[in-house]
Amino acid sequence: MSIALVILAAGQGTRMNSDLPKVLHKVAGAPLLAHAMHAGAALEPEKIVIVAGHGADQVAQAAHDQDETAQIVIQSEQLGTAHAVAQAKSALAGFFGDVIVLYGDTPFIRPETLDRMIAARADNAVVVLGFQAKEPGRYGRLVMDGDSLRRIVEFKDATEVERAITLCNSGVIACDAQTLFDLIDAVGNDNAAGEYYLTDIVALARARGLSATVVTCDEAETLGVNARAQLAEAEAAFQIRARAALMEDGVTLAVPGTVYLSFDTVIGRDTVVEPNVVFGPGVTVEYGAQIRAFSHLEGCHVSRGAVVGPYARLRPGAELAEDARVGNFVEVKNAQIGEGAKINHLSYVGDATVGARTNVGAGTITCNYDGVMKHHTDIGSDVFIGSNTMLVAPVSVGNNAMTASGSVITTNVENDALAIARAPQVNKPGLAVKLFEMLKRKKKSNEKGHS
Ligand code: UD1
Ligand code: CA
Repeated sequence: MSIALVILAAGQGTRMNSDLPKVLHKVAGAPLLAHAMHAGAALEPEKIVIVAGHGADQVAQAAHDQDETAQIVIQSEQLGTAHAVAQAKSALAGFFGDVIVLYGDTPFIRPETLDRMIAARADNAVVVLGFQAKEPGRYGRLVMDGDSLRRIVEFKDATEVERAITLCNSGVIACDAQTLFDLIDAVGNDNAAGEYYLTDIVALARARGLSATVVTCDEAETLGVNARAQLAEAEAAFQIRARAALMEDGVTLAVPGTVYLSFDTVIGRDTVVEPNVVFGPGVTVEYGAQIRAFSHLEGCHVSRGAVVGPYARLRPGAELAEDARVGNFVEVKNAQIGEGAKINHLSYVGDATVGARTNVGAGTITCNYDGVMKHHTDIGSDVFIGSNTMLVAPVSVGNNAMTASGSVITTNVENDALAIARAPQVNKPGLAVKLFEMLKRKKKSNEKGHS
């Protein structure tokens, strides 16, 4: 069965009180829209159509970041969910198969749930995803007759009896494309909101002798984000699940509630993560590594046995080979750190390669930026970089070389060489004592002058 996803993402999200379109607010480092697309992607859809409106350019950009084949259609006026889906009709011309309608602001629908909806389509023209709501609030209510769905009534239009129903509409609907667009053509806007309700297709289908049913899921899956408080709830829900999944996979989280994970964080078995660690997007950690307290990682790879932190920062492009060590107050960006190499204290290593077993002393800086362009520093293996070395890129240091502490290295250092690049030291016998005495006399005469 071919599948097309239609993801509704045109709404402004007034209650977010934001310049950013609602679906671009992030949970676990990824836009809400990307989460929705990710859930649908598991069905291997033939087509993905995003209905954009407010902030359409930004929404299109985010959609294409996630999947460059996504088609964007514009709903310039938000006249209701049926009107929104209708905008996808021309993009789906020539498509034969099932359409699944998802909301861009509903990030947690599970692929397994969508699979169950597709399965239920075998015997039903329309399949709606419902849930038992703890607080049904303003959700649309699912009016059943036996196992069949008779109609969906929006809260605004519901009678007291209907409002007492706790089985609610998640908004996710599956239907054959041709049937869906035929039914939508018949939807009017004569209701309390004056909107074209997608939910009306159920009663319209039934009136044509077509069957409709409900597949239910856990309420947590249907969590939609309308306001910042719900964004925070969604984040919390994601984090709790992601931490539990990692621990299940054999990762130690010493204090799980203090570890922040991203949608794509991968951590191998027997890695230990200490308290207060942030994993931004794009981090992979192999097994048996240690990520020590208060470290911040994004877009980086940590190989097995490596130790990061405490208080380390790994930025995009940082790659630590096996058993490498990056210690406190060290920042690494776009740099390959070789096997067993050590950068233990107070350093910046950016746009660089550091060879195996090399030791980078405290306070070392790769001066990678000249104010206009970035340049590369290449440090070989078994090198000793003395403390407080400035490596002015582009520059290289050969294998088995050394730099003297405090050196400013501006030209390449060949293999096995010691580079000293600092003013020679001069000792003046007795001069310190004379200088002290002179300064004390000066201080005294200054004090007299003031009194
Ligand atoms: C909708 C359902 C309701 C369900 C609820 C679940 C309808 C009529 N009602 O109500 O039964 O319980 O979702 O959350 O479908 N959108 C557009 N264009 C539009 C209108 C909406 O893109 O013209 C998008 C919104 O940005 C949002 C989604 O569709 O992502 C749902 O719209 P919203 O207005 O939030 O619907 P609800 O009133 O919550
Ligand atoms: Ca809503």
